[in-house]
Amino acid sequence: MSILRTEKLCKSFSNGGVQQHVIKNLDLEITEGDFTIIMGSSGSGKSTLLYALSGMDKPNMGKVFFGDTQIQDYSNDELAVFRRGNHFHRCS
Ligand SMILES: Nc1ncnc2c1ncn2[C@@H]1O[C@H](COP(=O)(O)OP(=O)(O)O)[C@@H](O)[C@H]1O
Ligand SMILES: [Mg+2]
Repeated sequence: MSILRTEKLCKSFSNGGVQQHVIKNLDLEITEGDFTIIMGSSGSGKSTLLYALSGMDKPNMGKVFFGDTQIQDYSNDELAVFRRGNHFHRCS
């Protein structure tokens, strides 16, 4: 079962008037119970991806699913409630 999923996820930043596309049309599926590693050189967008997946930041376009719940259109207040109520547990 997929615990985290993205559809056509896009995240860009405006840096000094230049639009920097960090995540472009990403389709990602992370399955519950899997051990998943996100690798990439410094500045490649790992933190940007994790912020979008965890509801710490909002994507510019595309969808983010936590289970069946789409979180990309949540307001900041809704995201705060979402983050407070959904914890990732350490494997033991
Ligand atoms: N809040 C931000 N404003 C502008 N640019 C950002 C911001 N966050 C990240 N970036 C840019 O996005 C790119 C990816 O950054 P980041 O996700 O932190 O990479 P990583 O975690 O893989 O090192 C970098 O070029 C970084 O400068
Ligand atoms: Mg980082």
